[in-house]
Amino acid sequence: MPRPSYTHLGGLRDVESFRRYLTEQRIEIPCDDKLISGEASPLAQSIHAGSNKVGNRIVAQPMEGWDGTPDGRPTEFTFRRWERFGASGAKLIWGGEAVAVRHDGRANPNQLVMNQHSQADLGRLRETLVAAHKRAVGSDADLLIGLQLTHSGRYSRPNAHDRQEPKILYHHPILDRRLNIPADYPVLTDQELREILDDFHKAAMVAAQAGFDFVDIKHCHGYLGHELLSAHTRDGEFGGSFENRTRFLREVVTAIHAASPTLSIAVRFSAFDTIPFCKDSSAEQSGVPESTDGLIPFRWGFGVNADNPLEPDLSEPIKFLSLLRELGVRLVNISAGSPYYNPHIQRPASYPPSDGYSAPEDPLAGVARQMKITRELKQQFPELVVVGSAYSYLQEFLPYVAQAVIREGWTDCVGLGRMLLAYPSLLLDVIDGRPLQRKSVCRTFSDCTTAPRAGLPSGCYPLDAHYKNSKDADRLKKLKAAKTK
Ligand SMILES: Cc1cc2nc3c(=O)[nH]c(=O)nc-3n(C[C@H](O)[C@H](O)[C@H](O)COP(=O)(O)O)c2cc1C
Ligand code: SF4
Repeated sequence: MPRPSYTHLGGLRDVESFRRYLTEQRIEIPCDDKLISGEASPLAQSIHAGSNKVGNRIVAQPMEGWDGTPDGRPTEFTFRRWERFGASGAKLIWGGEAVAVRHDGRANPNQLVMNQHSQADLGRLRETLVAAHKRAVGSDADLLIGLQLTHSGRYSRPNAHDRQEPKILYHHPILDRRLNIPADYPVLTDQELREILDDFHKAAMVAAQAGFDFVDIKHCHGYLGHELLSAHTRDGEFGGSFENRTRFLREVVTAIHAASPTLSIAVRFSAFDTIPFCKDSSAEQSGVPESTDGLIPFRWGFGVNADNPLEPDLSEPIKFLSLLRELGVRLVNISAGSPYYNPHIQRPASYPPSDGYSAPEDPLAGVARQMKITRELKQQFPELVVVGSAYSYLQEFLPYVAQAVIREGWTDCVGLGRMLLAYPSLLLDVIDGRPLQRKSVCRTFSDCTTAPRAGLPSGCYPLDAHYKNSKDADRLKKLKAAKTK
């Protein structure tokens, strides 16, 4: 399949050219024509999430670093990353990174684990972030810090980065094949799920003791929480009906509320999905959807149209948000798809990660899709505080778009992922009226995704001197060279 032609944003001279490009391509993304600093900036406005006040609209999205100790505690790399998250000026820290609730649910052998033995270290991680935040903005007032709790389910690799040890909830006709999961591979039993549920509860209690303001019960990106939402074909208490597929969430939330009423609960979820994509056989290696022959109606997705699973269907995501509202959850973070099976949906990029494929669309279309769906959901749930995702591809135009989406109510807060690894203070520079550092802007090279796929720590190898000059950078270079041969 020929690669779609599109203009790389680095080739657009200024915001006027960017706005013109959006119009020409008929891509609907609101965009201001100038940056606003100081108190008048939409980014500087505070917002209330229940009884919590958040001092501005900037959110540090969770990002794992693959750099914890084998027993799940942070290392100096982790401390450095959290320090940079704090210095970003974001007043809402969404979990820092996914922290596993138990060893066998780690996505990699270096993922952090939340339990009694890591509590003090995770508390120190939080304190490091707060100290850096105070140094950057002068005060930690209205700073809200959460921890993202996870079990990696189908994507568990707790003991070796190159050995998958999946914990699956049902057999998926495409993902099982891709992961070489045989037909007789056991699915987690209801009893095993109840034990995991208990681990989420215990981990939340430890997070509260370590001083975190909230926990996110992660439901995105193909991990266990997300797979629960699509367990249409599973029998028993946790599969089939919407009620059963959300039982895990309801029970975790109820247990946490009962034991720790002051700990807030948040949920990040993949609000829509599409089928898994793979490379086509051409030299272009363009992304194409896997075949769904014989699989329609498609019963293995959440937020997808069962008759045409390339299209989103928001009816269940809307029910899910109604449920969150009923459960007293006020903070919601909207993401999409999975970095494993459809990265162009989840984190639009100019350059694919090593296990990805060339973008099957202008990555701006991917950014616009997440924005549009976030807007639709926000309109239906004005009382929820909604965080939007996937803005980093916008590069130097990100702040212009961020101002516009907040002013026009497309989202309440703008979440920064990759941009934070490359240029943590981008939006703070805007609020403080400092010129943008173009050289630091994330260009979506995807090295922060490629490195961990090879067992190396994640970080911004092209732009962050700490990684650029490391011995891991040489290993990454060799690995990429070998792939292109
Ligand atoms: C290296 C890396 C690690 C990530 N780790 C997590 C994670 O632990 N939890 C999570 O919910 N999302 C994770 N994400 C997804 C980001 O939070 C974000 O949704 C995604 O990168 C798209 O936003 P962006 O365009 O600002 O990068 C990760 C992304 C990257 C690049
Ligand atoms: S490696 Fe750096 S430039 Fe590349 S996507 Fe990650 S943060 Fe952006």
